[in-house]
Amino acid sequence: MKALVYRGPGKIALEDKSKPKIENPTDCIVRMVTTTICGTDLHIRKGDVATVEPGRTLGHEGVGMIEEAGSAVANFRVNDKVLISCITSCGKCDFCKNKMYSHCLVGGWRLGHTIDGTQAEYVRVPYADTSLHPVPAGVDEEAVAMFSDVLPTGFEVGALKGQVKLGDTIAIIGAGPIGLAALLTAQFYFPAEIIVVDLDDYRLEVAKRLGASKTLNDRNHEAVNAILHMTSQKGVDVAIEAVGTPEAFNTCQAIIAAGGHIANAGVHGKSVSLHLEKLWDKNITLTTALVDTFTIPTLLKLFVNGKLNPSQLITHHFDLKDILKAYEVFENPAGQHSLKVIIKAH
Ligand SMILES: NC(=O)c1ccc[n+]([C@@H]2O[C@H](COP(=O)([O-])OP(=O)(O)OC[C@H]3O[C@@H](n4cnc5c(N)ncnc54)[C@H](O)[C@@H]3O)[C@@H](O)[C@H]2O)c1
Ligand SMILES: [Zn+2]
Ligand SMILES: [Zn+2]
Repeated sequence: MKALVYRGPGKIALEDKSKPKIENPTDCIVRMVTTTICGTDLHIRKGDVATVEPGRTLGHEGVGMIEEAGSAVANFRVNDKVLISCITSCGKCDFCKNKMYSHCLVGGWRLGHTIDGTQAEYVRVPYADTSLHPVPAGVDEEAVAMFSDVLPTGFEVGALKGQVKLGDTIAIIGAGPIGLAALLTAQFYFPAEIIVVDLDDYRLEVAKRLGASKTLNDRNHEAVNAILHMTSQKGVDVAIEAVGTPEAFNTCQAIIAAGGHIANAGVHGKSVSLHLEKLWDKNITLTTALVDTFTIPTLLKLFVNGKLNPSQLITHHFDLKDILKAYEVFENPAGQHSLKVIIKAH
């Protein structure tokens, strides 16, 4: 089968690999229908995620059909359509019992990280009963793929950790799929103002359409002053970092109001200075998290009932054989007008 493989910093290739097999009775083999590329895959390719070894098939998102179910799998049968959570969870360990699936003692972020992932024709999903979700009947399966990672991350790591509440002024730094998912889900709490910052005008235009009250392009490093000016020098109640760079984190530190929350979602490959000399007396809260995906069932329910629509995050379609082109389009939003790229594996 074809698979997109990491070959060391800066290198990825579409290669032939053998089809995965059931290794444990709790595994399922999923025939991938739709997968996609995450900003995290770009970090991996750069070499930012040292735990990914060369030879690893990338990808931790997607929708597929059960090809084979291990003998201990109770919830799924051959040909069921499933959503793959980017987080694998055993459902039994202490972390899982506390809904912190990202730190499951035998799971966590494994797909496309420590085991082969979803940017392939088939993938082995461990602990299938607790790591897969049934796809509701009659819904757009490409939109469903946005629930593997994008929407739960924007919601759990952005809006929930940031404790967005009625009437807040919030800033989202980064208008990639994760920043936009934070934008969509923060609105459940009715903040008064949502300022979105990016370097790409097309992504900012989409942010406007999805509910941003103000957008700022930070190409000339003017966003911090503009936000302080807009808030009468008070800053924002919630700053969500959805980029994963020191520059974007520094923007959050510079604009946070007294009593505010900085919610970091970005994956960081470089250290960042925490400016405690400025923040020590500001009563701020800083949160970091890997998504747990415990909100997938709730978010899917909102989607099925028309209260949340992620289809506007999808801009391009490719076949798996053209996935290298899909990476190019995803990482160069300027000119390409790209957000989430859908990759058809079957
Ligand atoms: N914590 C988690 O569980 C989790 C889960 C998924 C993704 N992530 C991370 O979230 C981040 C965003 O993911 P994505 O898929 O949206 O990535 P992406 O690369 O598509 O989006 C990042 C956006 O940030 C913008 N940007 C770059 N520098 C900026 C700056 N200084 N100020 C403002 N905007 C800037 C880019 O133009 C781009 O639109 C990545 O770091 C990704 O690894 C984290
Ligand atoms: Zn991801
Ligand atoms: Zn567990």
